[in-house]
This record gives sequence, C-alpha cells and structure tokens, in this order.
Amino acid sequence: MSVPRWLLALALGTSAPACSQKVAGGSVDGRALFDTACATCHGERGTPPPSMVAQLGVRDLRAAEFRRRATVATVENQIRRGSANKLMPAFAGALAEEQITALARYVIEQLGKE
Ligand code: HEC
Repeated sequence: MSVPRWLLALALGTSAPACSQKVAGGSVDGRALFDTACATCHGERGTPPPSMVAQLGVRDLRAAEFRRRATVATVENQIRRGSANKLMPAFAGALAEEQITALARYVIEQLGKE
C-alpha cells in the first residue's frame, strides 16, 4: 500500500500500528468514528474544508450527486480500499469490519440529515 504513513497518522490522530483497531477506542459509534477517522479530510459533517478540496480533491459527502449514487456497500468499499488514486487511505486493517459498517451506515443514513 502506497499511502504515506503521515496521512494515515493524520487521519487517525495516532502513530499506533495500523492493525491496532483501537480507533475511537474500538467504538462502533458511527459519528464518533467519523470524527476520528474522516473529519480531518471530509469535515466534521461531511463537507470538506476548502484547503482539503484544493490539496487532495476531497469529495463532499453531503453533495446531492454523491447521495444519489452512494449505498452502504459502496461506502464500505471506499473505506476498506481507499480511493483508486490513493489520496484517500485504505482503512482495512486499521478499522474492524463492524467499525467500517457503522461508518458507512452513518454516512448514508445520518450525514445528509444533520
Ligand atoms: C487523507 C484524507 C482522507 C481521509 C482521512 C478520508 N478520506 Fe474519503 N476521500 C478523500 C479523497 C481525496 C477522496 C476523493 C478521491 C477521488 O478523487 O477518487 C475521498 C472520497 C471519499 C468517498 C467517495 C465520494 C464520492 O464522491 O464517490 C467516500 C464515500 C469517502 N471518501 C468516505 C470516507 C470516510 C467514511 C472516511 C473515514 C473512514 C474517509 N473518507 C477518510 C480523502 C480522505
């Protein structure tokens, strides 16, 4: 995997080994996980800060265009694998499967409504 370690450390707020699965204390609360693992790039409620759009091309998870095509399954895959262009890191290994599902459900079921 070619994601720079600093990016993952920035995202997870830790330099712990990626296999620790202790992100947000091992929580399965989607919102707490999003705040810990995703908000640095995607913004606290899914809309990225302009600097992240400019630097990495981070996508707006509240955009109508995204919400029309996204499902729990597609978001789970995005979290596991990261983006094809590697600017979003893969979280498989860093997050447990239950945490990935909780995050995807949060993105699909709650993020657009907050
Ligand atoms: C290091 C910054 C970074 C972090 C951390 C990050 N992302 Fe991303 N994310 C991106 C970038 C950049 C893209 C756009 C990639 C591309 O151009 O394909 C993206 C794209 C996405 C997409 C696809 C959006 C679309 O329009 O199809 C989803 C869903 C997503 N991220 C969810 C998450 C979730 C959930 C987390 C937390 C587990 C997360 N991301 C953490 C940078 C990040």
